[in-house]
Amino acid sequence: MDTEMLTAAFNDVQEKGFLDVDIDPTLDLFAEIEKLKKEKNAIILAHLYQEPDIQDIADYIGDSLGLAQKAAQTDADMIVFAGVHFMAETAKILNPSKKVVIPDLKAGCSLSESCPPPLFKKFREQHPDHIVISYINCSAGIKALTDVICTSSNAKAIVDSFPKDQKIIFAPDKNLGGWINRTTGRDMLLWNGACMVHEIFSLEKITRLKVRHPQAKLIAHPECEEPVLRIADFIGSTTQLLAYVKKSEEKEFIVATEAGIIHQMVKQAPGKTFIPAPPDNSCACNDCPHMKRNTLEKVYLCMKYEQPEVLMEESLRIQAKKSLDRMLEISEKAGLI
Ligand code: 13P
Ligand code: SF4
Repeated sequence: MDTEMLTAAFNDVQEKGFLDVDIDPTLDLFAEIEKLKKEKNAIILAHLYQEPDIQDIADYIGDSLGLAQKAAQTDADMIVFAGVHFMAETAKILNPSKKVVIPDLKAGCSLSESCPPPLFKKFREQHPDHIVISYINCSAGIKALTDVICTSSNAKAIVDSFPKDQKIIFAPDKNLGGWINRTTGRDMLLWNGACMVHEIFSLEKITRLKVRHPQAKLIAHPECEEPVLRIADFIGSTTQLLAYVKKSEEKEFIVATEAGIIHQMVKQAPGKTFIPAPPDNSCACNDCPHMKRNTLEKVYLCMKYEQPEVLMEESLRIQAKKSLDRMLEISEKAGLI
């Protein structure tokens, strides 16, 4: 590629979200990425919803809590974050001296976007006697307006760390918040946000599937809506769902979360059957369009050219870090990390 084209691609990266540069199709991307890891002392952190090739080349695969912890602890010079933007942003907040790159800057999150900081600030001001617990699927702006962050792995423990009579605002996921309210007997005030992927599952189709597969266990992420959670045999974060299918004596599972996790389930629990829970439309896919913006090609390019990079204002980073540090402290005390 000539210098002029490369400069144009660099100028476009914010607009397009990724470096739009042609790659020689005969290149062995797996080998090239391994080489770049060594050359640049880089670590690839990947979420369980990433495409199989990315999971296979990653140094660590996990849920939001595991990824945040790894990002905070790594001594690599460059963190390649194969996930969505709020996850890469969290890595930068926790470990600011590292260069954090993301394959596609536009890999967003419908849940995070459902909670704009200016609106949330007003909401918070209307309830001055409440503390704020926010799910990690939110922007740095929301983290800065939050007392403690939680993930789906530690949400109950975080909420339980406050006295029963403490008034709490829970943002942005009404489904996760509602599930915690039901299981802890709390009455947290819920922000009205939701995930587009976990809201799409059809209760009727899942019920029909359960009739056809009576032995199958329904496992669900807490971002699913209440009717699906009510009939689930097990509810947990992505890592907890994975641990459950590995440990379980059962052989068949209906999986109500993003379909990317099934790659790891098949690898780590061989011989078992995983049926993606059906959505309420005719498309048979439960893929998160944001997570799936990342591709192996984009991973290679962001490592090679160290773009797009995740950056933020230092004052925002410092304010957002407080709620994340508090989460890590409580999780450590509770023996969750
Ligand atoms: P986990 O923390 O359970 O991996 O959830 C992340 C997520 O985005 C679920 O949609
Ligand atoms: Fe966000 Fe939902 Fe995608 Fe998770 S699956 S990243 S919550 S849109």
